[in-house]
Amino acid sequence: MKVALVGGTGSFGQAVAKRLVAAGVEVVIGSRDPKRAQEAAAGLGARGASNEDAVRNVDLVLLAVKAEGAVETARDLRSAIGTTPVLSVCAELSFGPGGVKPTAEATSIAERIEAELEAPVVAGLHSLAAASLAAEPPDEDALVCGDDPDAKALALDLAARLVSGNAVDAGPLASARALEGMTAVIVNVNRRYKTHAGLRVTGLPDR
Ligand SMILES: NC(=O)c1ccc[n+]([C@@H]2O[C@H](COP(=O)([O-])OP(=O)(O)OC[C@H]3O[C@@H](n4cnc5c(N)ncnc54)[C@H](OP(=O)(O)O)[C@@H]3O)[C@@H](O)[C@H]2O)c1
Repeated sequence: MKVALVGGTGSFGQAVAKRLVAAGVEVVIGSRDPKRAQEAAAGLGARGASNEDAVRNVDLVLLAVKAEGAVETARDLRSAIGTTPVLSVCAELSFGPGGVKPTAEATSIAERIEAELEAPVVAGLHSLAAASLAAEPPDEDALVCGDDPDAKALALDLAARLVSGNAVDAGPLASARALEGMTAVIVNVNRRYKTHAGLRVTGLPDR
């Protein structure tokens, strides 16, 4: 599998890249600045390129940019991405004195990204923390949702290479609102208990 990490210079992209390279996946780190991408890729066993070059000729595009720039980034990359499946890990958060909250947008960021693209969009990995991925595959599950069966199968295959738990199909892309909101829940738990919390879904059949 060949995967482009758009925004792969960030903490999440770097942690995912490390796990994927270790799992034998070919990784291209993307950045708005190709030099920054090359620097971030050096030492990881990955290639670095501009976001636009990174997304060409790959099996899956993982969109891991800062959430505020995600929809605009998707719009800018529409032609370069074409019909290649996109996995959005983005979640918009609002920070306030009462804690971290999901934003009040009516639709998920993944659905807004899909509206900008020809490609099928899936969403997932929101409950994985960059810090937990950095050392070894965490003992957690990774949830993925989407409407396109082939794109979702690809994203679940990728998710299974990141965690030692299960890659879990969480249903249609409409579930992205809940998965993105889960990021706020996890961040609040992390703050309260000074940890890097993750999720385990119980009741799954043995595999
Ligand atoms: N951190 C986590 O543990 C975690 C866990 C689950 C999901 N996520 C999600 O993963 C995404 C990345 O998280 P992160 O912590 O790695 O974020 P980050 O370090 O703040 O940003 C990631 C990359 O996004 C690019 N970027 C920043 N502002 C941008 C803009 N306005 N437009 C386009 N690109 C921009 C930058 O790359 P260049 O400057 O090189 O282009 C940056 O290195 C977020 O959407 C977050 O919700 C994060």
